[in-house]
Amino acid sequence: MARYYVTTPIYYVNDAPHIGHAYTTITADALARWHRLKGDDVWFLTGTDEHGLKVKRSAEANGLSPQEQADVYSARFREAWALLDISNDDYIRTTEARHHRAVRALMQAAYNNGWITLGTYEGLYCVACEAYYVEDDLVDGLCPIHRRPVELLKESNYFFRLSAFSDRLVEWYADNPGAVTPEAKRNEALGLIKGGLQDISVTRTSLDWGVRVPWDGKHVFYVWYDALINYATAVGYGEDTVRFSAWWPAVHHLIGKDILRFHCVYWPALCMAAGIDPPHRVSVHGFLLVGGEKMSKTAFNQISPADLVPIFGVDGYRYHFLRDQQFGPDGDFSYEAMVARYNADLANNLGNLLARVSAVVHQKCAGIGPAPRPDSPLAGLAAEVYRSADAAWERPAPSEALEATWLLVRAANAALEAAEPWRAEPGPAVDAVLGDALEVLRIVAVLASPALTRSAAEIWRRIGLPGSPLDVCLPEAALWGGYPGGVAVERGTPLFPRLKA
Ligand code: MSP
Repeated sequence: MARYYVTTPIYYVNDAPHIGHAYTTITADALARWHRLKGDDVWFLTGTDEHGLKVKRSAEANGLSPQEQADVYSARFREAWALLDISNDDYIRTTEARHHRAVRALMQAAYNNGWITLGTYEGLYCVACEAYYVEDDLVDGLCPIHRRPVELLKESNYFFRLSAFSDRLVEWYADNPGAVTPEAKRNEALGLIKGGLQDISVTRTSLDWGVRVPWDGKHVFYVWYDALINYATAVGYGEDTVRFSAWWPAVHHLIGKDILRFHCVYWPALCMAAGIDPPHRVSVHGFLLVGGEKMSKTAFNQISPADLVPIFGVDGYRYHFLRDQQFGPDGDFSYEAMVARYNADLANNLGNLLARVSAVVHQKCAGIGPAPRPDSPLAGLAAEVYRSADAAWERPAPSEALEATWLLVRAANAALEAAEPWRAEPGPAVDAVLGDALEVLRIVAVLASPALTRSAAEIWRRIGLPGSPLDVCLPEAALWGGYPGGVAVERGTPLFPRLKA
């Protein structure tokens, strides 16, 4: 059985969950669900990043201890993911003892291998990024990401000898052409490596909110080095060799473009330094913008999932972000586009198909769904759609997977319109077109279930199928002819009531 280990970044506990965070998490969730359908053994990890100066300062501003701050905000992310039907198998918090143990073990291995040494560091530091910059990185003297002043920090630190890994990283990229996608992001990472790597400071003495360095208790690890290791912690690094080697390095990290350097340069090098293989895949997506700007607390332009779910439902929410935000480039969030997509694809297309088919089955077939034709003109399209959707989920390109899936929904609606079974006399011709449409609904319920966690199951139930589309196996479940016929079809309220524009 294939194994699929998928991760989201772990979110900082200084900020409330917004639709940008949710975008990565929903994409990871949909991929996890697709792989489960394919019969893979799946492990899906998300969680929160709880150490570092940023969290400490945020706690101070809120009159909380760092641990209290982490508890409150970590719970908010957990609630947001429950609201969005996120099916994670684990939820890691970097303040957990298991994570402290794994960070110590992994960094100790890199230290024992001679890749971590003591030195002095002086640099320009952005607290919001938790990262040092050189003068050249700054824009008008400000942090290039947050556009706020940087601070001059000087400390005695342990350094990771990143510069020694340039050649090995270039080789790793050459040997693993699919390791970082999309292509443009792979080139960006390679550009950073070829542009020259400097050793980087990986500990702090100026801060105590972190994981203590095992060989020198005056230091704690720099938050990014602690954070990256969460991916290893969660599958038993340092504690359960059998489990760790089952899941590692077959991991798929999903990340936003702002943390590419950490995941595509520092992390593979650190894995090499500690003597483990670098991750198999890192997929990098762009930002979700609001009014052309990145969302931030200071710009007061954050939208939270809880603002939208009451209007669109969980499925309407998930469908929009998966279908309309391409994985890779930046995309602007628009409420109008979200309403338009919901009305077009869910209310008018899928919802309407279900409503029409169930109404006509009651009118013409006494509520009993007929079987599809083995030689239906839709059978070939269904096979093609499955192939495209599978390839698209693999890229990963959820928007293309759903776009392909909806070709089948549209084709079934068009076939119904052409045959007009609601005008015809009951008989084989009516049975044929209704059976085909029911079969399309069955297949679409399976193929769309990574996005439509609830309505896929509801469609399944209404067309009279036992169990759930989540329990079937691909590719078998996508083969034409699975709808048995002779089962009772239910007529219900509209699955996706139209929204006013
Ligand atoms: N804690 C680090 C990640 C450590 S992973 C070992 C971090 N946290 S974060 O909360 O600031 O961001 C987490 C993820 O959310 C990043 O991938 C970031 O790109 C993503 N997003 C934050 N705002 C976003 C948008 N507006 N749009 C899309 N994703 C964005 O970085």
